[in-house]
Amino acid sequence: MFTTINGKKTSEEIKSEIAARVAKIKREGGKIPHLAAILVGNDGASQTYVGAKVKSCEQVGFESTLVRMDADVTEEELLRVVEDINANPEIDGLIVQLPLPKHISVEKVTNLIKPEKDVDGFTPTNVGRMALNWPTYVSATPFGIMELLKRYQIPTSGKHCVVIGRSHIVGSPMSILMARNTDPGNATVTLTHSRTKDLASIAKTADILIVALGKPGFVTADMVKEGAVVIDVGIHRVPDASKKSGFKLVGDVLFDEVAPKCSAITPVPGGVGPMTIASLLYNTLLAAEQQVYRP
Ligand code: GUN
Repeated sequence: MFTTINGKKTSEEIKSEIAARVAKIKREGGKIPHLAAILVGNDGASQTYVGAKVKSCEQVGFESTLVRMDADVTEEELLRVVEDINANPEIDGLIVQLPLPKHISVEKVTNLIKPEKDVDGFTPTNVGRMALNWPTYVSATPFGIMELLKRYQIPTSGKHCVVIGRSHIVGSPMSILMARNTDPGNATVTLTHSRTKDLASIAKTADILIVALGKPGFVTADMVKEGAVVIDVGIHRVPDASKKSGFKLVGDVLFDEVAPKCSAITPVPGGVGPMTIASLLYNTLLAAEQQVYRP
């Protein structure tokens, strides 16, 4: 039997913990956490994600500001809005939803965000601090995965962790976090990607397999060791005539055939996804309290 890691339930628990802290702040007349999100253009997925982030802010009692900008906004205008938010003492956390239109430099925009407000943990300062094991804001998806491993008491020390995918948002930070001298952490990490030779046989040696490459159903049962823990970061819409919406959500892992081999696995939906928002809220709460996450 395998454990289904319930990210939806865990994220609701974290959100209740945050809501209780906000209620206490309100009672004591303290600063109510305030998250600002900048959304450029009309990308469907980005609109859904940002909408969910703003809604979750309301759920826990935060204030939120959504700044929507047209896809043809100039880089200069966007940088000006980031500067305004940096300087606004009312706003504790700022996220700029990615991807940005091609004519805008992600590096320039990210680099301008004040590290103290960078609750996505994307700035060079905060990525560097994360790598150094210094207090910082750890980016939301990797932070959410670490929290799931912690709350499900999954042993990681001395285990072989294979990460598939080297994105700046998930794969790369995940590999750093799992190798750090922390708990969870202390794993022996192999970071694999599109150029990796014989990825399937490396994956099969994993005690913990973290899959974040963005290909629906990429991981099949023959790539997974008996008893492994599998964390699926992928989320894809695939056509499904039996659903009212006309689609269903699937991950990077073929859940039905992989799950029976696992000791624990995250489903899609309801696994890693909901944890991302809970982590972002947690970082924003810390920012409002002028704290950072201490590993
Ligand atoms: N695009 C995909 N994931 C993320 C995220 O965690 N933060 C932001 N800002 N953009 C994203």
